[in-house]
Amino acid sequence: MNIRLVNIKHLGGIQPAATQALRGKALGEFPTMSNAFLTIKDGKIADFGPMKDCPHDEMTLKDCRGKSVLPAFVDSHSHVVYAGTREQEFNLRLNGASYEEIAEAGGGILNSAQKVAKATSEELFIQAQARLNKLITYGTGTLEVKSGYGLDPEGELKLLRAVKALNATSHATLVPTFLAAHALPQWAKDQAMDGAQYTRYMLDTLMPVVSKEKLALFIDGFIERDYFKIDALEAILEASATYGLPAKIHVNQFYDIGAIPRAVDAGVLSVDHLEVMSESAFKALEGSNTIATLLPTCSYFLGIPYAPARRLIDSNTIVALATDYNPGSSPTGNMQLVCNMACAKMKMTPAEALNAATINGAAALQLSDRKGSITIGKDADLLITREIPSIEFICYDFGTNHVEQTILAGHII
Ligand code: NIG
Ligand code: FE
Repeated sequence: MNIRLVNIKHLGGIQPAATQALRGKALGEFPTMSNAFLTIKDGKIADFGPMKDCPHDEMTLKDCRGKSVLPAFVDSHSHVVYAGTREQEFNLRLNGASYEEIAEAGGGILNSAQKVAKATSEELFIQAQARLNKLITYGTGTLEVKSGYGLDPEGELKLLRAVKALNATSHATLVPTFLAAHALPQWAKDQAMDGAQYTRYMLDTLMPVVSKEKLALFIDGFIERDYFKIDALEAILEASATYGLPAKIHVNQFYDIGAIPRAVDAGVLSVDHLEVMSESAFKALEGSNTIATLLPTCSYFLGIPYAPARRLIDSNTIVALATDYNPGSSPTGNMQLVCNMACAKMKMTPAEALNAATINGAAALQLSDRKGSITIGKDADLLITREIPSIEFICYDFGTNHVEQTILAGHII
């Protein structure tokens, strides 16, 4: 669809085509143009500029008076394909149980895995589609989706195929990640497998088909003291190198077990969570190309520390923001809320938060050539706000949806 947005109050997130990821001072600037137009042709951003330069050719116009237009959010960490919900565990936590205690008692990831095992592919698809459609109305255009609730080869494939089917039916862009090691299932314990053995088994069994059918673009693992340790990380790094799929790793959510220096050294694409950091972890990330993906709604929901965004940014680490949308630690896919919490709880500025939620999210999915900024030639994935006083207002006024419409690949949703 070809359309021109006109009289845009603020057009934000403008970047040159060469921009891959922002860090340091550059992260603190969200380049904006006032009273602007933007032309969409064949699903791409064809042109933009100040209204005084707006062409007068034949074009369908959409008036955006009083409204702002931004790149759609790029949510680079989610688990949106799952079955059922876990509010009973929320109640348990409110009564004093910890996330880890619940997991030890067979709840948590294992609970979701049971629900996934019972769900048909169609049920999984329908549930995930409803979540996806809702988060699109909150301005998300690109969403990474991890498997990881299958916990056996068949289950993981079921999840990855659901992501593929969802991607094929949506104007949003879904990016699948094979979460090879999420929790050690009972069947593996029964066979006396340890975490690394299970991880290797899953990788050896699934990577040939995942890579042949392009069922995942990235590999992930939950590297934590009580889940999978450095030996499992090594298995993931090996598979990553063998199959040429970059790694994105869950790490430092509850404990620092020294995984970040190793992951950065191996050149992983992103390390995600980072609520608990050591000096060596900070040092490893400083100036590196590994992206620190921070998940403030998870900290909020579990009552664990917020990741030290300020120190990471000030020490020249690339920071992205994402929802971690999942039934246990972050039952939300709302990137506006993520930006608000990044500001209120992690002391990021609105400009930093918006960059971290768009262009740096795109970088964390190796998509910054196509997504995450207002750049001629990029996909026309945009959000149009309601009438709001400023772009910063999105990060400030929390709890309501400031997005009026989302445009994905030029389609008004
Ligand atoms: O990123 N940390 C590991 N995985 C998810 C939570 C999974 C769950 O509780 O179901 C996360 O927080
Ligand atoms: Fe996660």
